[in-house]
Amino acid sequence: MSKLEYGSLCIAVDELKGKRHLLRLKEGGRFTAMYGYVDHSAIVEGGDGCFINASKGPGYRFFYPTYSDYVMNIKRKAQIIYPKDSAAILMWGDIRGGQRVLESGVGQGAMSMAILNTMGGKGELISYEIREDFAVQAADFIQEFYGEAENHKIEVRSVYEGIDGEFDRIILDLPEPWHVVTHCETGLRNGGIIVGYLPTILQAVTFVENLKSSGIFEEIETFEFTKRPWKIDGRSVRPEMWTYNHSAFLVKARKVTRKPVAEAAPEEPADDVAEEEMPAED
Ligand SMILES: C[S@@+](CC[C@H](N)C(=O)[O-])C[C@H]1O[C@@H](n2cnc3c(N)ncnc32)[C@H](O)[C@@H]1O
Repeated sequence: MSKLEYGSLCIAVDELKGKRHLLRLKEGGRFTAMYGYVDHSAIVEGGDGCFINASKGPGYRFFYPTYSDYVMNIKRKAQIIYPKDSAAILMWGDIRGGQRVLESGVGQGAMSMAILNTMGGKGELISYEIREDFAVQAADFIQEFYGEAENHKIEVRSVYEGIDGEFDRIILDLPEPWHVVTHCETGLRNGGIIVGYLPTILQAVTFVENLKSSGIFEEIETFEFTKRPWKIDGRSVRPEMWTYNHSAFLVKARKVTRKPVAEAAPEEPADDVAEEEMPAED
């Protein structure tokens, strides 16, 4: 379902302030906000992208919500990975349909939904979350936005205590991801990718040091992404005065087989070299 009809989600955008409201359309329903009300029937009749004046004058633009609209407007209890970073995680984590992906923690399920969208129903996403209340809430959000996800399972458990099975990708958004590195010996396949999302640089440093000392990770990269909005309005063309400065660092690494110990070459010099080095006879 991706059009405005009874039962579907809808985002209302305030024409004066740009404020966004998430609602669900129902028969006989009425959207009420700053400028009065708009009947849901008028929104369904107008369709995706319509503009309707509210009862007090100014109006709203109504859309079927995008992924960003949804995750940025849910009433959340835990910090989510923002779309600029989830997009980067999908790309640098090389997430594709058909893979087995492990994600931990689940929080509000924002990253889970991004992964499920990308996988397109193929493969499997397993999410470990230590808090049962977050697991339940995330499942509700995922059901509300994504719908039934037959290839997704949330398990209430700590990823620090181990990983069951072997995965192609591991995505971590929790305070101490370095506790997961040893579990990658069996939990991540060789060639598989791990991505950690870390708000502070000290977390990133500890994670990278643990990845390096494990001897089973290479191709380690640490980076961050900035989305810098610009205002383009007549002659006023400049970066917006407000910017969202920092969210988190991303650390990505690839699992490898351990390097074989190089055997020392035999010490014996080749005959011709030995002759050249002989001191000349008087
Ligand atoms: C910042 S939230 C994750 C947000 C999520 N990525 C999203 O986009 O909605 C961090 C989550 O990790 C969970 N967590 C913390 N330690 C954990 C552990 N050892 N195992 C599993 N989950 C854990 C927390 O309960 C919390 O829900």
